[in-house]
Amino acid sequence: MPIREARYHRRRLTCVAAVIGDGVSQQQGRSSVVAAAGKVLEARASASSNGTGSQRLQEQEPEQPISSQPKRAQRSFQRLGSGTQAVHGGETGSRVRQGVADSLTTPIVQTSTYTFNNTAELIAYQEGRFGSFEYGRYGNPTTRAAEEKIMALEGAEDCLLSSSGMCSSTTMLLALVPAAGHIVTTTDCYRRTRQFIQTFLPKMGIGCTVIDPSDLSGLAAALEQHEVSLFFSESPTNPYLRCVDIPAIAKLCAATNTVVAVDSTFATPCNQRALELGADLVVHSATKYLAGHNDVLAGAVAGKSELVAKVRAIHAILGGVIDPHASYLLLRGMKTLELRVQRQNATALEIARRLEAHPRIARVHYPGLESHPDYAIAQQQMTGFGGVVSFEVRGGRCCGFLMYKQAYNCAEVVSKIWV
Ligand SMILES: Cc1ncc(COP(=O)(O)O)c(C=O)c1O
Repeated sequence: MPIREARYHRRRLTCVAAVIGDGVSQQQGRSSVVAAAGKVLEARASASSNGTGSQRLQEQEPEQPISSQPKRAQRSFQRLGSGTQAVHGGETGSRVRQGVADSLTTPIVQTSTYTFNNTAELIAYQEGRFGSFEYGRYGNPTTRAAEEKIMALEGAEDCLLSSSGMCSSTTMLLALVPAAGHIVTTTDCYRRTRQFIQTFLPKMGIGCTVIDPSDLSGLAAALEQHEVSLFFSESPTNPYLRCVDIPAIAKLCAATNTVVAVDSTFATPCNQRALELGADLVVHSATKYLAGHNDVLAGAVAGKSELVAKVRAIHAILGGVIDPHASYLLLRGMKTLELRVQRQNATALEIARRLEAHPRIARVHYPGLESHPDYAIAQQQMTGFGGVVSFEVRGGRCCGFLMYKQAYNCAEVVSKIWV
C-alpha cells in the first residue's frame, strides 16, 4: 500500500494510522431486501417508547414470543469474545425484524417510511404495544442491527447511530447539557469537537473547564466549583494518545451525578471497554475502526439506556440520521473488527518502538510505550493500544516523512491523519 503524507500537523507532530491489509477486501456484496410491509402483521414492542429496536413479524404466528429473542441473544453474546460479537452480535433478530426468514446477512432496508396495516396497528405502535418503525429519522431495521452489534461489543444497554462521529458527540452534548450548564473536558481533543465546545456551546451559556487528561484534582475542583453536567474526553486522545483514568474519573463524577462520556474511537471496544470501566456513555467515530474500510461516515453513542434515550430524542429533532446503506457497510465492516484491531495493535506497537529508537525522531506518542505519560493507565484499562502512532520529527515534516518511508518501507502502512 502506498504511503501518503499526513497533512495535519501540529508542532511538528505527525500521526500515522497502521491500516493493515487484513484480507477483508472481498467483493462488496450488496444485499438489498425490502421488507414486505404488507406481510408484516404483528410484533411485540421490545422497543423503547419511540419504537426503535423493535421487530415486525411475518404472517405466521411465532412458536415463541419473538420479542424476547434479541434480548436473550444480546445477553448471551455478552458472554462471548469480541471476535464472535463482532461477527454475530446484533444480527440474530434481524431476519425476523425485517420480515425475511432466510437471509444470513442483515438486509439493507432502504426506505424512508413504513406502513401500518390499519389504524389499530398505528395506535398500538404509538402506545408501544406494536414494535415497528415509523419514519427513517426515528429508526431503521438495518441501522438497529448495527446499533445492536455495537451494544454487544461495548456491553451497552442501548446505542444510537448517527451520520458521523461529530454528529454523535454534538447531539450528545446538546442533549445532556442544559443551557447555562457546565462541562469538563481535557486539553487534547479532536479539533472539531474542541471547536464545538469552545464556539458553539457558549452561545447557550454553557461553560467549560479544560483539564490535563491526568489532572484528577483539577476535575475535583471543577466539580466543586460548578454544577457540572458532563465530563467528556477522548481516551486515547487525538493526536497525543493521552489516556484518562476512567475508573477514577467515574468515581469522582458519581459523587456529583456528572455523566462520564468517553470518546473511545482510538481504542475500539476490542481494546477498551469504557462502560465496564465506569463511563456512562461511550462515543465512537464509527468512520474509523468500527467501519474499517474508509468508505462510510458514522457515529455512535452507546451506554445507559436512559441517557441514550435523551440523545435519541434530540437526534430525532436535529436529524443527523445515518443512511441504511451506510449502516449496512458499518455492519459489514464490524465483522472483521477484532481481526483488524489485533493486527493493528501489533503493527503499531512495532512501528512505535522502531520510531522511538530512530535518531531522526524527537518523540513518539503511543500509550503502549513505557515513555508515554499514561503508560500505566493504559496498561490498567486497555488490552491493546490501537493503530494510531503520533511522532515528532527532527528537521521538519518533509524530512521526517522521507526518513520514515526509507527506514521502514512500510508496504502495509498508510500514513493518514484523522482530519
Ligand atoms: C477521536 C475522534 N472523535 C470524533 C471524530 C469525528 O468523527 P467523524 O469524522 O466521523 O465525524 C474524530 C474524527 O477524526 C476523531 O478523531
